[in-house]
Amino acid sequence: MTPKTLLAISDLILHFRTRAGIVRAVDGVDLTVGDNEALVILGESGCGKSSLVRAILRLLPRNVAAYRGAILMDGLDLMRLDDESFRREVRWKLISLVPQAAMNAFNPVLRMGDQIIEPAVNQLGMSRGEAMDRARALFRLVGIPEAFLQRYPFELSGGMRQRAAIAMAMITSPRLLLLDEPTSALDVLTQASIFNKLKQIKWETGIAFILITHDIAVSSELADRVAVMYAGQIVEFSDAQRFFREPLHPYSKGLLASVPRLRHRGEITFIPGRPPGLIQLPPGCRFADRCPFRFEKCSQDPPMIHRDGRMVRCWLYE
Ligand SMILES: Nc1ncnc2c1ncn2[C@@H]1O[C@H](COP(=O)(O)OP(=O)(O)OP(=O)(O)O)[C@@H](O)[C@H]1O
Ligand code: SF4
Ligand SMILES: [Mg+2]
Repeated sequence: MTPKTLLAISDLILHFRTRAGIVRAVDGVDLTVGDNEALVILGESGCGKSSLVRAILRLLPRNVAAYRGAILMDGLDLMRLDDESFRREVRWKLISLVPQAAMNAFNPVLRMGDQIIEPAVNQLGMSRGEAMDRARALFRLVGIPEAFLQRYPFELSGGMRQRAAIAMAMITSPRLLLLDEPTSALDVLTQASIFNKLKQIKWETGIAFILITHDIAVSSELADRVAVMYAGQIVEFSDAQRFFREPLHPYSKGLLASVPRLRHRGEITFIPGRPPGLIQLPPGCRFADRCPFRFEKCSQDPPMIHRDGRMVRCWLYE
């Protein structure tokens, strides 16, 4: 059964102004996340993944050139809220973020517990004692001994601090957690144990995730749906089962073929070339100059094509 839609994004745009021109980091994104679902977003460095997260949470830099689209959460149109209501009602309460490199963002001179309870005290008006109880429960959930709430960040390993960042994002009991590369810069075993933890958290709490990661192999264990991003756009959106068995978009096929697999004799291949710059995008399909399947039609911009409940931006599926 398909879960109820929790978040629905349509035609979301976030462009930045720079001296060299307009950077089209998020360029017409459509996505949905169901209740208690894990949506994994894959894509090369610089394709706009962190910008998409910023656009969802309205964490905007000063040089925004365009920011528009619709973001519905449980029927509430988030883009219509003024900044103050958004800050008060959405950030932390409905949607929390574990930002890229979160484990290095703790204040070195404050104890972990004091930092972790802050959003619960400030955003929800919880008492310190109540918030600390919740922090203890969350430390248990993410697998850190409670005693570490009394410690300073440098006393925790990188993996522990990353788990603590996840606990902090959950202190306000949000419905949706955005995780921007939660395991980069950690060793493989720690990465795997964090993904396992996320799986357990999803199961135990009913929370939904949007998870950005380069770790395609490990994320396949957790994903319910997969979105592939390329040059500011979503080029494929699919249920995870069919995606990992049979990706549709030529770029997705290239991404999966580049993952080394144990007990698999197939050759590992890499996608040649580099993604286009987001300032001067080529006309037509943005993947064309790297695509082994391109044909005449590809000089025109492909629309999102619906196919058996999946979506793919490629003329091959017209
Ligand atoms: N404030 C900004 N002003 C101008 N350009 C920006 C700004 N923030 C991001 N960009 C550019 O937007 C593009 C997308 O950046 P973004 O950080 O979203 O990519 P990403 O997919 O998260 O990459 P990575 O995997 O390396 O984290 C990049 O070209 C980046 O240089
Ligand atoms: S539209 Fe054409 S160039 Fe683009 S991915 Fe499909 S086949 Fe390749
Ligand atoms: Mg990023």
